[in-house]
Amino acid sequence: MGSIPQESCPDALEQLLSGLPSQHLEPLWLKMDAMVPASPNPVAKAHLWKYEDALPHLLRAGKLVPAESAERRVLMLVNPSMAAPCTTDTIYGGLQLVNPGEVAPAHRHIAFAARFIIDGSGFTAVEGKRMSLARGDVILTPTWHWHDHGNESDAPVIWLDALNLPLFRYARVNFAEGYDESRYPSEPANPPEWRHPWKPVQEALDGAGVPHATHHYRTPDGKHLSTTIGMQAERIAAGCTTEVSQHSSSFLYHCFEGTGKTIVEPPNGNGERVVLEWKTRDTFAVPAWSRIQHVNTSATEPAYLVAVNDRPFLELLGLTKPGL
Ligand SMILES: [Fe+2]
Repeated sequence: MGSIPQESCPDALEQLLSGLPSQHLEPLWLKMDAMVPASPNPVAKAHLWKYEDALPHLLRAGKLVPAESAERRVLMLVNPSMAAPCTTDTIYGGLQLVNPGEVAPAHRHIAFAARFIIDGSGFTAVEGKRMSLARGDVILTPTWHWHDHGNESDAPVIWLDALNLPLFRYARVNFAEGYDESRYPSEPANPPEWRHPWKPVQEALDGAGVPHATHHYRTPDGKHLSTTIGMQAERIAAGCTTEVSQHSSSFLYHCFEGTGKTIVEPPNGNGERVVLEWKTRDTFAVPAWSRIQHVNTSATEPAYLVAVNDRPFLELLGLTKPGL
């Protein structure tokens, strides 16, 4: 068999290309790099939100936004190179405040939420099971579970919200339903399966006996916290610089306690390194496939970071590549 004759007229290719748009066709050979890039290409930038800068705005929102909107009294952490709800390409984060005496009205939604309690105390009821909130707790509200939050203390309760909202830009199936009453009937949860207190997490990290320890939060039956969002906590010993790591997952980090910096080399940054300097209560976004190193700049105290990741989502869809 002979080879297929090639047209040599230069105008022929132009004619082909000009005839495609009206047929809603596009040539892949001109867009191959965008369709199948040489490395992961998140849009999100590495970025840090200082708690001391955000807090005055959040406290002011606490005075201006009425109690019936307490569920929505959130300052979204919007990635500088994206729009809400993207804190990373796959993870949404926000700072929420509930005032003393308030109840954030009961509702449920398809989106999964994990909360990390930054300050204050209160309660969350999930599907009729009420759990107390304290600094360092992780509280989960699984898909389509009724939940309401309350604050029976005399100070605001503030937490970091983390949801899988960016995923619904593609699967447009998220929606919410409000409950008829402000609170869904509840009684104390025993055991509180959707509450992960800080103390055992810190004990596991402190007992690991390595300069950089990581604890992966798991459900009682040993699974990731959800099918989309997972969480981990890390302890970096005083003065320690961690090994370089690189994962398919993006991360929303929060400093529970400590002082340090994270060096981030994102895949979309032309080799440039971003240095995020953090201290207790700061929050920062790390794009997927970034090379990262944490540095604890304290010579005497360990640093504790928690991080929300999209690892379960990537693993379930088989989208991960082993990193460093
Ligand atoms: Fe909610």
